[in-house]
Amino acid sequence: MKVVAGSASVGLARELAKTTGADFVDVAYEKHAGGFPDGERYVRVMDALEGESVSVVASTHPDPMIVELLLLLDAVRDLRPRRVTLVIPYFGYGRQDRRFESGEAVSAKALARHLSEGVDEVLTMGLHSPDILKFFEVPAREVSGMPAVGRFLKTREIDLVLAPDRGAVRHAKEVASASGKPWDALEKTRIDSYTVRFEPKRLDVRGRRVAIIDDVISTGGTVALAAKELQAQGAKHVLVATLHGLFVGNAWDKLAVCDEVASSDTVPSRATKFSVAPELAAGIKAARP
Ligand code: R5P
Repeated sequence: MKVVAGSASVGLARELAKTTGADFVDVAYEKHAGGFPDGERYVRVMDALEGESVSVVASTHPDPMIVELLLLLDAVRDLRPRRVTLVIPYFGYGRQDRRFESGEAVSAKALARHLSEGVDEVLTMGLHSPDILKFFEVPAREVSGMPAVGRFLKTREIDLVLAPDRGAVRHAKEVASASGKPWDALEKTRIDSYTVRFEPKRLDVRGRRVAIIDDVISTGGTVALAAKELQAQGAKHVLVATLHGLFVGNAWDKLAVCDEVASSDTVPSRATKFSVAPELAAGIKAARP
């Protein structure tokens, strides 16, 4: 197998190649030093792929990575591989998976449709909703990244795994079971895209070390508020761990209240401290025809 990476997914793709014993294929992402002056993307796959089984690994964040991925898939297809597996560690636009108002784009569907072209199968992770899988026009599967979060927590001293809201309970449960820790949950109400509120709930956190788990950190509002709530209730140490760390806007300012912030390598950032390569490798292996 050969692994081809989008420019924002090189670290994870290298890990994946190492884990699966595949060859990592070099890609040039710039034609001229400094790139095109207008910011347009460029890709050139630097290896032969004819007859090979190829995994193209690329998250769709930030937006320019979507254009780059379309170029990459086109370049890969023209090199006549036997099979193309598109591995999308983080699939963005998942929240717009329905038409909430007439005339709106169903963004997740539009993206999934375009990324299906010329691909044999799709493997992704931590989708906003599993229903998004059916938007792809080729067989698509999702693997969980939460075991990787659980592995990471084993390297830290933690007494309790906490879900910041009901939606994160299934993730906290999975992480708790992978790390062998107890879990609990807060009750969150979302006011708008930027504002959340917590209902008062007494937790047994006094003097304890707590790990808040969420599948995505976007603006940081959810986990920062949860961290403040835990500190107000006497938690000694608050770590925040997520699968997809986007950290948009002033997220890092908000997260300054936390003792530690950690995320996987689905979207690389200064918080990236663990890899989901083992989970993706297992997913690829399970799909191999
Ligand atoms: C909600 O559906 C997700 O699980 C996260 O809680 C949410 O995306 C986090 O967003 P933010 O960091 O902007 O509060």
